[in-house]
Amino acid sequence: MSAGFAPAPWPRRLRSQDWYGGTSRDAIYHRGWLKNQGHPHDLFDGRPVIGILNTWSDLSPCNGHLRELAEKVKAGIWEAGGVPLEVPVFSASENTFRPTAMMYRNLAAMAVEETMRAQPIDGAVLLVGCDKTTPSLMMGAASTDIPSIVVTGGPMLNGWFRGERVGSGTHLWRFSEAVNAGGMSQADFLEAEQAMSRSSGSCNTMGTASTMASMAEALGMALSGNAAIPAVDARRRVMAQLSGRRIVQMVKDDLAPSHILTRAAFENAIRVNGAIGGSTNAVMHLLALAGRVGVDLTLADWDRLGRDVPTLVNLMPSGEYLMEEFFYAGGLPVVLRRLGEAGMLHRDALTVSGGPLWAEVKDAACWNDDVIRPPDRALTASGGIAVLTGNLAPRGAVVKPSAASAHLMRHRGRAVVFEDIDDYKARIADEDLDIDETCVMVLKNCGPRGYPGMSEVGNMGLPPKLLRRGVTDMIRISDARMSGTAYGTVVLHAAPEAAAGGPIAVVRDGDAIELDVDARRLHLDISEAELAERLARWRPPAAAPASGYARLFHDHVEGAETGADFDFLKGCRGREVPRDSH
Ligand code: FES
Repeated sequence: MSAGFAPAPWPRRLRSQDWYGGTSRDAIYHRGWLKNQGHPHDLFDGRPVIGILNTWSDLSPCNGHLRELAEKVKAGIWEAGGVPLEVPVFSASENTFRPTAMMYRNLAAMAVEETMRAQPIDGAVLLVGCDKTTPSLMMGAASTDIPSIVVTGGPMLNGWFRGERVGSGTHLWRFSEAVNAGGMSQADFLEAEQAMSRSSGSCNTMGTASTMASMAEALGMALSGNAAIPAVDARRRVMAQLSGRRIVQMVKDDLAPSHILTRAAFENAIRVNGAIGGSTNAVMHLLALAGRVGVDLTLADWDRLGRDVPTLVNLMPSGEYLMEEFFYAGGLPVVLRRLGEAGMLHRDALTVSGGPLWAEVKDAACWNDDVIRPPDRALTASGGIAVLTGNLAPRGAVVKPSAASAHLMRHRGRAVVFEDIDDYKARIADEDLDIDETCVMVLKNCGPRGYPGMSEVGNMGLPPKLLRRGVTDMIRISDARMSGTAYGTVVLHAAPEAAAGGPIAVVRDGDAIELDVDARRLHLDISEAELAERLARWRPPAAAPASGYARLFHDHVEGAETGADFDFLKGCRGREVPRDSH
């Protein structure tokens, strides 16, 4: 055992017995109903009841294979002496949810938390995959502190088009820009569409889904090696079965999220994010998750811990390869070993295995040093997310150095301002737009409250007239997020957001903006008095929604700098049913 964890005594009475145990009228009522599924009476004798919280949905294609995977989880639970019960939960798919899946992460987390606490579940397998499903289920589980293990669905196989790897999302942006620049025909773009998603699974780049799968593993919430196994590889199903076996023992030991999700675990995950060239979205999700377990994680931690971390994983969007090759090269255990050897890992951090992280990864072999680079051949020497501050983002903004252009990391340019995403769409292709490659594009009102939901529009496409001239990158600044599959010198999450009256709201066309990533500085070059006067005259761009979930979201979502959780959902409320009338 690790980090001071002492397993609970076994046997003992589990919470599911509050529903199923004994001979009372209520126990007969609860058991009796479940028996209509054909369960023998002895299944209710006090053995662990495991909820398989499944984010399968036909409208979440990244998670479309999770019902089959659930069968392997069930097999593992039966083998270990538990009782598996599959439970569908809110599936916030990246593909379909509008205005953005991020608007529903907290709703999903809230639904999962209540689903777990309100029902006879002693432990949970979190069956996830697409971007928001992984953090939302971890957040919900963390707020109940019921033993839980993450099983991700795994990435899709490599896409291929005319001899070239096609990365999910990354090539959507590349091909789209090539069409806008006149270097690719629309017909070829449509043909490439067929090559993008050639198997079950989540995005095959180191986008947000792969990043969050890696975060779950680095945090210790998934079994070692889980993150990279392709969705259709038989070893993915083995992983599901082993995780089913493991959760039963976790329940017996009462190995709960609060034992695993410690500050050390979050620090490990932040460093791993730098080493894998992970998504900026991980910043939001880990801050929110930390808030659920009372770990005081801040943007400053992200900057401090990521500063010296080399990017080792050569995957799109920062590098060349895709998740399939990452798996063949040895996957995340190799990254963890290399970080541990470099003194960048809390080796004693506890995982769902019941032991220290280091025991799982210390012997991990690397089978391809070009895919998982040794530190002396890193893709980027300082690959962690950089956190910028300055009068343009007093509470912080982030940029991903491994996906940015070196020549733009220190730059002063003239602002070209778009008031919101509709303004951007209306004018970006205007041949008369007064813009060149030295300008700084600014997009407002796309933050948590402004969009609403904080959409992934921060990597706004460049003006077609500049693309045609061969311009491939420009500085873009917004209060939005960016897809983990995207790239460019893109400053995101500027806080406070425009819709909350942050300074980004009052930037005007022609203002000078200075970016200095090394100095962690983002500066709007106007006088303090001028900035104060503009802010005093600022008015909210739109009224709050009148009712419904949109109103709840508007009134309670916090800023990007703390992870955009709801203020009333922070913290762990435990596993006890607040008022049980039975
Ligand atoms: Fe679902 Fe990428 S869109 S994993």
